[in-house]
Amino acid sequence: MDVWTRTDDEGTWPDVLVAYARAVEGMRGLDPPTGKPRDPLSWQFQAAMHGRATRTGRADRSNSLWSRCQHGSWFFLPWHRMYLATFEAVVQHHLGDDDWSLPYWYALDPDRPSTAVLPPAFREARADNALFTEHRSVLANGGDPLPDVSGSVTQALEVEVFATDTGVASFGGGERSQPSFFGEEMGAIEDTPHGFVHVVVGNDFDAQGNTVREGWMGSFFTAGLDPIFWLHHANLDRLWQVWLDADPEHRNPPDDDAAWLRTSFRFPAPGGGTRTFRVGDVLDPQALGYTYEDLSVPSTFVAA
Ligand code: C2O
Repeated sequence: MDVWTRTDDEGTWPDVLVAYARAVEGMRGLDPPTGKPRDPLSWQFQAAMHGRATRTGRADRSNSLWSRCQHGSWFFLPWHRMYLATFEAVVQHHLGDDDWSLPYWYALDPDRPSTAVLPPAFREARADNALFTEHRSVLANGGDPLPDVSGSVTQALEVEVFATDTGVASFGGGERSQPSFFGEEMGAIEDTPHGFVHVVVGNDFDAQGNTVREGWMGSFFTAGLDPIFWLHHANLDRLWQVWLDADPEHRNPPDDDAAWLRTSFRFPAPGGGTRTFRVGDVLDPQALGYTYEDLSVPSTFVAA
């Protein structure tokens, strides 16, 4: 059983990140840095599955596996879980190590203010550090704490329903009968902390709060290029399980929500070909082969 280990402490590189950096570098080398990626196991291809822009800034779907991320709907959490499971398997394949497991970065956690900085390994600005990129905010790469909106994590965890079709607050997002690259109803978890971490890690702002420079994490079309993306999403995936455990009233949609459970998405498989997941296949992390070290509910959480 895999454990999604915690990320590093100041100054040291845990083995899991040393291996990760090696995989990132190897995967980047499988395709040219620019132009359309061809190898499904390359870094650029994996990122394109989330989103890739055409020259005119639209979603590039010239490959049927690209630009498939699910946002603003109840597919957000399951799609990203499938994406992470695929990615973890691809990294394991590159490393030849089935025990490697994707770590998570808390980023915003009411009980762990010290983790509100980008983990050190990701900001060591050496040319040979595959975890570093300049396509990030000055704040993130400078090791400054993210603005403290950790209360949003508690707030999201206190939302009672997974999905909604009436516009009331939901944890996971609005109900849709069809996949939705960008639906309009974000769940509480997707909005803040999720989106917030994306923009503050990706972008620089002026004093008025306008974006003055956009980095990879700031856009759907580039987010997967930043190695921290995957650790951020591992944490969101973890928070889904924390939410389920936090209160017996917290439930995923029941079996009669067939539209959700049967919706399927296709991803490349490390051994070649593709693997199709249905939403109903990914609701139990243990069945997918992993668990989390920490599923504790924040001390600030109050059950409804
Ligand atoms: Cu599909 Cu954090 O985004």
